Amino acid sequence: MPRIQIRFTMAFKHIKDEECERINRLQADYFSRVKQVFDPPYPEGVPERLEIIVKAAEIKTSDTVVDIGSGTGVLIPLIQGFNPEMIYANDLSKSMLSSVKERYQGVLTILGGIRNLALPDHSVDVFLINACYPNLVDKDRSFKNIARMLKPWGRVIISHPMGRSFTDFLKREMPFPVDDFPVSLPEAGNLFKPYGFRVRTLIDHENLYLLILEWG
Ligand SMILES: C[S@@+](CC[C@H](N)C(=O)[O-])C[C@H]1O[C@@H](n2cnc3c(N)ncnc32)[C@H](O)[C@@H]1O
Repeated sequence: MPRIQIRFTMAFKHIKDEECERINRLQADYFSRVKQVFDPPYPEGVPERLEIIVKAAEIKTSDTVVDIGSGTGVLIPLIQGFNPEMIYANDLSKSMLSSVKERYQGVLTILGGIRNLALPDHSVDVFLINACYPNLVDKDRSFKNIARMLKPWGRVIISHPMGRSFTDFLKREMPFPVDDFPVSLPEAGNLFKPYGFRVRTLIDHENLYLLILEWG
């Protein structure tokens, strides 16, 4: 009889600062080298799924939005379509953020890991984390910091427009560790409850992963 193994993560692992900084340097170098991979044309269906992802954030004109791991800014024109008050693009890679600056006006770029992002307490309405959740090395401090910056009822949209199983490919190809996405509502609930989040939605389709968290 084949054995079916169900993975269920109860809490984020703790990671030493030096190890986090080492892996983040590897990531920044890697993504700076391959940044053209993130330019159009995108695989079939991806532009439509990116629209679904940004729409799920329910961005209002009074909102402050942070695109975590923005890369070259694939989400930025879609976010701008909702005309929010403020858009920040945050990334580890200076080169990725240079592309954002060249391509889009009215976006503030912030270099560095999300766990150290120093926006004021309760100042952000929406965090988007597209194709970046598996890359967040220190998820514990990252989500503590995200929770600190979120306003009550603020949202976090964790997504991948190629689906959760794309991480299998990344695990083989990337020169740094890549984590899995939460697979179920109970797993997501257990992981994010300690940071004050409720799970609003989990969509786990073959080619679209979308987890919506609400804070406070
Ligand atoms: C796979 S790319 C995705 C880029 C973009 N979101 C997209 O959908 O095209 C992941 C990006 O996340 C950035 N990143 C990884 N860990 C990060 C962290 N802790 N804080 C901020 N950005 C991070 C990387 O530098 C990289 O540009």
